[in-house]
Amino acid sequence: MKTVFDAIASSYLREDEHWGCDLDVVVRAIHPFLPRVAYVDLGCGPGFHVATIAHWFPEASVTGVDYSFAMLAEAEREVRCFGLQNVSLVQANISEFKPARMYHVLTCLNNTLGNVCACGETPAVREETARAMHALLVSGGKLVASVYNLEKFSQRYGENFRVLPQSDIKRGELFVEYMPHGVEPVQYYSHWFTESEFVRLLEQNGFKIELLEKRLARLVVVATAI
Ligand SMILES: C[S@@+](CC[C@H](N)C(=O)[O-])C[C@H]1O[C@@H](n2cnc3c(N)ncnc32)[C@H](O)[C@@H]1O
Repeated sequence: MKTVFDAIASSYLREDEHWGCDLDVVVRAIHPFLPRVAYVDLGCGPGFHVATIAHWFPEASVTGVDYSFAMLAEAEREVRCFGLQNVSLVQANISEFKPARMYHVLTCLNNTLGNVCACGETPAVREETARAMHALLVSGGKLVASVYNLEKFSQRYGENFRVLPQSDIKRGELFVEYMPHGVEPVQYYSHWFTESEFVRLLEQNGFKIELLEKRLARLVVVATAI
């Protein structure tokens, strides 16, 4: 089934007004594990963070995981454009990604955590994802996660987006329609987090929070797997 991420892949960074660059925190997190850091980005989308980290740190082993073939095709283009030899792109659902290795640093950025829960499922999917992220990290490994901050929610969601009436905004439960010109509209689910909810999700699933910053529409966390 075609998801919003397939529909938006080629224009995602331009169209998602809430998107932001977290490279500075990712670099800080990987620093202690250089030069041969094992880094994975879950829900890597068009590969912005994966390609840049691989480019800056050629001895790093970098993995990007996404279930959208269209997003992975964009990421592949970035990887080829930079001529990177140290990136693997894996098509998988995060919940089914079971690699043979563990990672020093794992990222899950720009509200991928708010997208993992498909319509009709319970927030338990986010709990499972947090546990899955923990299981992928070595002890003392670092998680960098950014989610959309409910405090910053506004009905004006973006030029090609419409927040649907069945959304429960108080609980951050958003159903959104993406309606680009000349293409079939696609609906999708996006959870926006309160700060306390995001902290609780990570702390109850094996992480110690080292840094939490509010950046534009995002809450950005660096946490250690304990
Ligand atoms: C909001 S975008 C963020 C993309 C990227 N992290 C960034 O910062 O540019 C969410 C991405 O997660 C992917 N995604 C969402 N749920 C997923 C799941 N359960 N398994 C794998 N990928 C998923 C989508 O295909 C999409 O590329």
